[in-house]
Amino acid sequence: MNEVFENQIADLIRQLTLEEKIALTIGRDFWSTNEVARLGIPAITLTDGPHGVRKAFQGNEIGIGNSIPATCFPTAVSLASSWDTGLAEEVGQALGKESQALDVQVLLGPGVNIKRTPVGGRNFEYFSEDPLLSGEMGAAWVNGVQSQGVGTSLKHYACNNQESERMSISSEVDQRTLREIYLAAFEKVVKKAQPWTIMTAYNKVNGIFASEHPQLLKQILKEEWGFEGVALSDWGAVNEKPKGLVAGLDLEMPGPSNNHTEKLLKSVEAGELPEAVIDGAVRRVLQMVLRATASRQPGATFDQAAHHALARKAAAESIVLLKNEEDFLPLDPAGLSSVAVLGQFAAQPRYQGAGSSKVVPTRLDIPLTELTGWLGEAVKVTYADGYDETNSIDEKLISEAVEQARQAQVAIILAGLPASFESEGFDRTHIYLPESHNRLIEEVCKVQPNTVLVLQNGSVVAMPWLAGPKAILEAGLGGQAVGGAIVDVLSGQVNPSGKLAETFPLKLEDTPAFLNFPGEAGEVRYGEGLFVGYRYYDKRQVKPLFPFGYGLSYTTFEYSGIALSKNTTQAGETLEVRVTLRNSGARAGKEVVQIYVRPLESGYTRPTRDLKAFAKVELQPGETKEVSLNLQERDFMVFDSERQAWRMEGGRYQIEAGGSCEQPAQKVDVTVIEDPQSARRRFSRATLLKHVIEDEAGRAAAIELFAGSRVANWLTGTDEMFLAIPIFKTASLGGISEEAIDNLIANLNR
Ligand code: BGC
Repeated sequence: MNEVFENQIADLIRQLTLEEKIALTIGRDFWSTNEVARLGIPAITLTDGPHGVRKAFQGNEIGIGNSIPATCFPTAVSLASSWDTGLAEEVGQALGKESQALDVQVLLGPGVNIKRTPVGGRNFEYFSEDPLLSGEMGAAWVNGVQSQGVGTSLKHYACNNQESERMSISSEVDQRTLREIYLAAFEKVVKKAQPWTIMTAYNKVNGIFASEHPQLLKQILKEEWGFEGVALSDWGAVNEKPKGLVAGLDLEMPGPSNNHTEKLLKSVEAGELPEAVIDGAVRRVLQMVLRATASRQPGATFDQAAHHALARKAAAESIVLLKNEEDFLPLDPAGLSSVAVLGQFAAQPRYQGAGSSKVVPTRLDIPLTELTGWLGEAVKVTYADGYDETNSIDEKLISEAVEQARQAQVAIILAGLPASFESEGFDRTHIYLPESHNRLIEEVCKVQPNTVLVLQNGSVVAMPWLAGPKAILEAGLGGQAVGGAIVDVLSGQVNPSGKLAETFPLKLEDTPAFLNFPGEAGEVRYGEGLFVGYRYYDKRQVKPLFPFGYGLSYTTFEYSGIALSKNTTQAGETLEVRVTLRNSGARAGKEVVQIYVRPLESGYTRPTRDLKAFAKVELQPGETKEVSLNLQERDFMVFDSERQAWRMEGGRYQIEAGGSCEQPAQKVDVTVIEDPQSARRRFSRATLLKHVIEDEAGRAAAIELFAGSRVANWLTGTDEMFLAIPIFKTASLGGISEEAIDNLIANLNR
């Protein structure tokens, strides 16, 4: 534990009664912790997060849609597309300032769950399908918020990758996938930013509730990763409180919970639950409370206009240009006489997700108003709804829009996913836009070749009309200033530099979890294993609609001269990758340089490539920069389930640099030298004879043990069928004693 306050906490624990201690492990109400007035321990406030501060008005307990106005920044789906950790930190700082101004001590975010399937209802609240991008963005955000003396809550730990049966489903996932995919982003944030709290998920992981999971909470989070903060439950995620505390849970939210208080009292009194376990939780809670109280800034305010401007910058940086035929964009109003703006989202934008994260914005930029203002009086702007909130096709609305499109020089359509299509609490069943949106796009494109489509959606969508529009902008759920940000990009004021943080598939049937979602009989099997997102499309060679990391620009970039600081690397070393990037177009712009590591040989089933580093680089026209990124041992590692340990597997690897996972523009090889001891297999009763004799010591020991038995012949023979027998079978098939087999294994593992 952090040493600050340590003596004070020890002192307080000595004075607290058991009842008071228990109270400190349970919320006082929906949004605050319990106080102990006689000892001067105050209550603190925790609220949602993550893309804005949602502080409920007094008396309005839950407060969704009815909270104190706060800046609505782009949601995680958008912010992640910026691939800009500096920007994530800046947004975090602003959120920290707003939290101080609203007297909030812990902001509940960020969400770093992996987007396992594009239909996940809460995908808008999560960053990516990739753990590195999620972890880097999450860590920067946490550092930003916490720099203001406000805590964060990293959520939802772990494997909360669907909304279907989210409070009871068991995510069945193998240990390697758990470590390499589902825990990796949490690990990165914990190690890089030490969030004050982590929120345990509602669901079970391999049969055990996440809020009562000793492996996840005690062993991995606290012991292995060195998490110093409070493990708190998602709202209502606690089932058996004593079990939770023993497993490493510290704080139950919300409260009060009379049942749990009583249960804990009885368990301690009956000697079933050591009071020391409660003390451990209280120590962490007190650390958070004291730290939060010391950092409080009574009377703090924030600059609404500056935060709105930051929200606009963040939204513009996050917009992804998916298509731009004939360099149609940017548009110059000077060359235009009439523009038809179509689609109800132009007047009523979709800019944030639905559910607990929904904030009341301080103001809202309306795209139609922003577009009209930018185009100016010389351009005739018309507007038609095209569709309404019923989402069913209204021929009259469509024909009105089509007529306007026909008469204008350019049509700009705003379409996307309404809140009724995606939200916390349920998953989607398909990846289509509403039929009314699809029809509008199709019909308008038939009459107007100069159509620009702007999408507002929190998760990926299928694009049956892709050939229609000349240009497509993916604006995600861009927050309260997205209207202005759309203009920034359409006008070229901002050169788009967003890159997809998730793969856009052609159809739902192509997606990795399609056969194993949403599970049955209370379990969802993560049958695709490591092959989530681009790892799946790459390995299976399934062509996506748009790959991970993809995004166009109004300029062009050229990669050249990839080089490594050395051509071999090993544990404990840093490998520097340098690549030269040139802006070969006519406009200033930013490129996201992505570094992937591709194992060329391996004893494991590994993804074709994994993202291991990235950097966003700004270049003037004609400018050249050398970009330098570092790779560490972990970037070459697999989690070996047999050894229950990370392993930097020796062999040849290719380091790739490029602008998306499908375009490794530059490649160079490196050899990882592995210490023979770490490369050595871990032996178990299930190890095959052929693997035993591949090992020098194993061979010698086996020859000795099996001498005189029929197993000896199998060992010296070449018959694969006999060599493929596991050691434990030499008992029944070869008459070897169980004890001798166990001794052999123990000796080899020594
Ligand atoms: C959500 C959390 C949220 C909490 C408090 C839960 O239902 O899963 O993300 O922080 O409610 O609103």
